[in-house]
Amino acid sequence: MQGLDLAFKLFVDPGDLVVVESPTYTNGSATALSYQAQLLEVPVDDEGMQVDRLEELVQQAGRTPKAIYAIPTFQNPSGASLSVERRRRLIELTRRWGSLLIDDDPYGRLRFAGDDVPSLQELADGDPLVLSVRTFSKIMAPGLRVGWVDADPSLQQLLINAKQAMDTCTNLPLQRVIAAFLEGGHLSEHLTTQRAAYRERKVAMQEALAQHFGDRARWTDPEGGFFLWVTFDQTVDTEALFEIALAEGVAFIPGNAFSPSKFFPNALRLCFASSTPDRIREGIARLARAVDRSGLSS
Ligand SMILES: Cc1ncc(COP(=O)(O)O)c(C=O)c1O
Repeated sequence: MQGLDLAFKLFVDPGDLVVVESPTYTNGSATALSYQAQLLEVPVDDEGMQVDRLEELVQQAGRTPKAIYAIPTFQNPSGASLSVERRRRLIELTRRWGSLLIDDDPYGRLRFAGDDVPSLQELADGDPLVLSVRTFSKIMAPGLRVGWVDADPSLQQLLINAKQAMDTCTNLPLQRVIAAFLEGGHLSEHLTTQRAAYRERKVAMQEALAQHFGDRARWTDPEGGFFLWVTFDQTVDTEALFEIALAEGVAFIPGNAFSPSKFFPNALRLCFASSTPDRIREGIARLARAVDRSGLSS
């Protein structure tokens, strides 16, 4: 979060146009809004941000974006990953417009299916316009509050100065704990365990969704990360459903939380990362009861 805050703080002035994916990570768009950006939402499909739509929407806006905020791999909330072709095209547009491309990548190392895709930074070949933000939150523990920014050396001093004004420096003892974990060579073993567990949990969630919802909903099929994005027909209002689901003892995030313009009233995000397959099956059964009780979907 601090990496995103630094990027928006340094590059975005009030009124600047900032592109975000639609749906996008709530706290990412909220951070851009906190610097008074004007957001342009660009739809996401199974191959990530629709880059052809991006070009059209920017043309319609009549001005170029100061920054493009993308979560290219196992996106939060959709789980979608940007295809290589679209990554290349996104970099081309970024160069043409002179925008900053903020590559938010907390989940990239959590691939449990499919082949690796080169990162935006690799494809951009050291272009200073790409700034990557990464974290130990999803691969070790979120409570550590340690992450890092991969930015061009020309930005280093600006980033350091801005960060010093926020917190002087990141908690040193915890940085040492992480360094010891990395030096001990434990990360790759840990990732192997995590990837296998998340794959099993994703499959359990998809199977339970198929069992309880059949063709009443559709959901994504991510190759990594934490999330499934579930879309119901137009009659289901997931904000109304939320209260009923809580009463059933299950929670999700309503789709509109991921869209500043509230484009997703009938969608929701499910997280499969933190529960065992048994609890996931129970959770989806409860969600199905909530939908039935709501009378929202026939
Ligand atoms: C896409 C995305 N970016 C950034 C963050 C924030 O990461 P951290 O908790 O390490 O600050 C998250 C956490 O959920 C996220 O999903």
